[in-house]
Amino acid sequence: MELLLVFSLVFSSLALGNSYVPEFPFRDPSLPIEERVKDIVDRLTLAQLVEQMAHGGAGNNGPAPGIPDLNIKPYQWGTECLSGDVGAGDATSFPMSIGMAATFNYDLLKQVSNATAYEVRAKNTAAVLNGSYAFHTGLSCWSPVLNIMRDPRWGRNQETYGEDPYLSSYLGQAFVTGLQGDDPTYVIANAGCKHFDVHGGPEDTPVPRFSFDANVTMRDWRMTFLPQFKACVEAGALSLMCSYNRINGVPACANKKLLTDILRNEWNFKGYVVSDQGALENIVTQHHYAPDFVTAAAEAANAGTCLEDGNSEDKDGNVFENLDDAVEKGLVSVDTLKDAVSRLFYVRTKLGEFDPPDNNNPYANIPLSIIQSDTHIKIALQAAMESIVLMKNEFNGSPFLPLLPLANKFKRACVVGPFIKNPDTMFGDYSPTMMV
Ligand SMILES: *[C@@H]1O[C@H](CO)[C@@H](O)[C@H](O)[C@H]1NC(C)=O
Ligand SMILES: *[C@@H]1O[C@H](CO)[C@@H](O)[C@H](O)[C@H]1NC(C)=O
Ligand SMILES: *[C@@H]1O[C@H](CO)[C@@H](O)[C@H](O)[C@H]1NC(C)=O
Repeated sequence: MELLLVFSLVFSSLALGNSYVPEFPFRDPSLPIEERVKDIVDRLTLAQLVEQMAHGGAGNNGPAPGIPDLNIKPYQWGTECLSGDVGAGDATSFPMSIGMAATFNYDLLKQVSNATAYEVRAKNTAAVLNGSYAFHTGLSCWSPVLNIMRDPRWGRNQETYGEDPYLSSYLGQAFVTGLQGDDPTYVIANAGCKHFDVHGGPEDTPVPRFSFDANVTMRDWRMTFLPQFKACVEAGALSLMCSYNRINGVPACANKKLLTDILRNEWNFKGYVVSDQGALENIVTQHHYAPDFVTAAAEAANAGTCLEDGNSEDKDGNVFENLDDAVEKGLVSVDTLKDAVSRLFYVRTKLGEFDPPDNNNPYANIPLSIIQSDTHIKIALQAAMESIVLMKNEFNGSPFLPLLPLANKFKRACVVGPFIKNPDTMFGDYSPTMMV
């Protein structure tokens, strides 16, 4: 009896060798990704599908809950990477996007977003090992910002690559490819191009962006407000964020023409769409487009929104929490929810979450020491220098422009202004110094 036991132990460990035996097919990296994703999603109940779609935001809206039966951990979707890793402790701070646009330098921006992605990864690895899924510690960036800057009164112009769809496309692709990396299987972090689509004007003129109806002609939409998002999708971005405003009467996050006809069917987008924070509530409370959250949940899911970045965890404040009722009323199908959740797990699988620890993910063990490394600081300095436009001093010694170059004339300079001791303002919004 004892001998038999010993024999069978030896035999079974020989048979297994050191090879990894996955607990579920979705944990088997040798299977095609579509098969792995289907394996996860087919195991989820309606309630679990709803929970995965409802928790993409901050506070008690996130993280997406774990699925203990499958040994799947929670996942934090909310992360900001616009000019460095934002709101998660120390990180290398790079110039604002509008400054990066002034460099006209594709490779430099790619180095910036690659360095950002490595810092995001390092922090995520440490946080998850620590059992922490806090806001801003995930791998799914709500960046870059590809709105077109056509009105100087908009408060977020500095987050954009400027007024030109061509330059925004070109630099948007640099950001996306740098951030996601060039590994054929894994992504370092995932990009999320925003805000899809059209709005980029002054707040409260005539109404806030939460209720603004952006009316565009098809020509202007196609030529001005869509090209940079198409370029973002072509660069392989795994996420887009739908915006607060309406487009020709239909809220962006409930806009089937935008999120299905154009994004999925024309551009063949494989990733997920996340709402801007609270945008699903606004479908009811600001746009008065749907009578209640149940209807709004169905409208948004049917249009192609996969994930709610919301403000609450319950049905009163969280629109997608009402998806089960919407299914019951026949307003949305379980297949639609499965499609949305598949897109979420597709990205998590590409990030490597369901692989064994010793698999070939080159981004799995990036150490915290990468943060603010000499290399990254050098890239930030280079980017800052190239983003500054210097006036050419053609008049050295001329009485018409006697001040330049400054260095020859003054030993000390006094810089005056209300923001001079305000690093948040100097670094700009959505930069690592700012807790957003
Ligand atoms: C991305 O950044 C990491 C960390 O600094 C570096 O090792 C790697 O070479 C960079 N990759 C590219 C393509 O710049
Ligand atoms: C790890 O957890 C501790 C205790 O909750 C926390 O103070 C610390 O900041 C965490 N570290 C990381 C890297 O998340
Ligand atoms: C925009 O278009 C919608 C639908 O055509 C219309 O109802 C609305 O009044 C228009 N809004 C503005 C500000 O022109």
